[in-house]
Amino acid sequence: MNLSDLNKVATAMVTPGKGILAADESTGTIKKRFDAIKVESTEENRRDYREMLLRAKDAMQHISGVILYDETIWQNAKDGTPLIKLIEQAGSIPGIKVDEGTQALPACPGETVTVGLDKLAERLKKYYERGARFAKWRAVIDIGQRIPTTTAIHVNAHALARYAALCQAAQIVPIVEPEVLMDGDHDIDRCYEVTSHVLNKVFQELRAQRVELEGMILKPNMAIAGMKCVRQASVAEVAEKTIRLLKACVPAAVPGIAFLSGGQSDEQATAHLDAMNRIGHLPWKLTFSYGRALQAAPQKAWAGKAENVPAGQRAFTHRARMNGLASLGQWTDELEKKAA
Ligand code: 13P
Repeated sequence: MNLSDLNKVATAMVTPGKGILAADESTGTIKKRFDAIKVESTEENRRDYREMLLRAKDAMQHISGVILYDETIWQNAKDGTPLIKLIEQAGSIPGIKVDEGTQALPACPGETVTVGLDKLAERLKKYYERGARFAKWRAVIDIGQRIPTTTAIHVNAHALARYAALCQAAQIVPIVEPEVLMDGDHDIDRCYEVTSHVLNKVFQELRAQRVELEGMILKPNMAIAGMKCVRQASVAEVAEKTIRLLKACVPAAVPGIAFLSGGQSDEQATAHLDAMNRIGHLPWKLTFSYGRALQAAPQKAWAGKAENVPAGQRAFTHRARMNGLASLGQWTDELEKKAA
């Protein structure tokens, strides 16, 4: 595969009207989600839940790609069909989370570095053979007193670029995800400033490691106030500042930007994406790569019961459709309420 093939996949991942389903929760994270709906996190329940999503045909029309976790990419549906085949049959692209989580960063209290580079080339080869055409690696940057340090930003950006270069060598499109968390009490301007440093460092490392920008997707946080901040920014302010930030930091060669939801409510995540696309005149496609903001509603509707599968699929379809409209700047509050 050459650059234009990577670029073709990356471009398909940000097809207007579609976005990415982040269904790549690690075993620990999906347990937390299942605990909230009182479902035991067994391998079979995890399979049944993800099968429900992937068989939701109306929802999948709005899903360009699905990020899987290692367990899921090797799993079969109840009838024996590999789950990865369900994604392909729905006309969507299978992807895989390849980082192995975070570890404490020595000499930087409270900060982490994402790990998983050892043997990554071999793992990518196996995932490609299984059908994965893109991958994801998430770096985590926390905002607090005296953090993030330049050390944490540097080591995480370096690892992201190492991962991205290895992906492209394996003919896999890297989703580069530097997530600045919205957990703290910082305001939107502090988030803007930190995210700007992080993105600048990430692109510096990507260039230094010869990553082809045309063959990658960026998955950033929005410029948004921390959840505990007393002054929450309006939808218009989030949209305006996020666009300004991305225009300043993200080269036009990158085909698309697919946001994480990061703890925003379902409707907020949709409204923010919609407002950004309404601003328009952007050098890259802007869409979603949501985990919680696509799955919280179907998880609640399903609640681990086979008889609730149609309700779970309806809830997923609604969120996928609303976010698909937001990727075109065509979402409205009326449509949100009408179909809910
Ligand atoms: P959220 O949308 O729930 O933040 O998840 C997206 C994701 O893939 C985080 O790595």
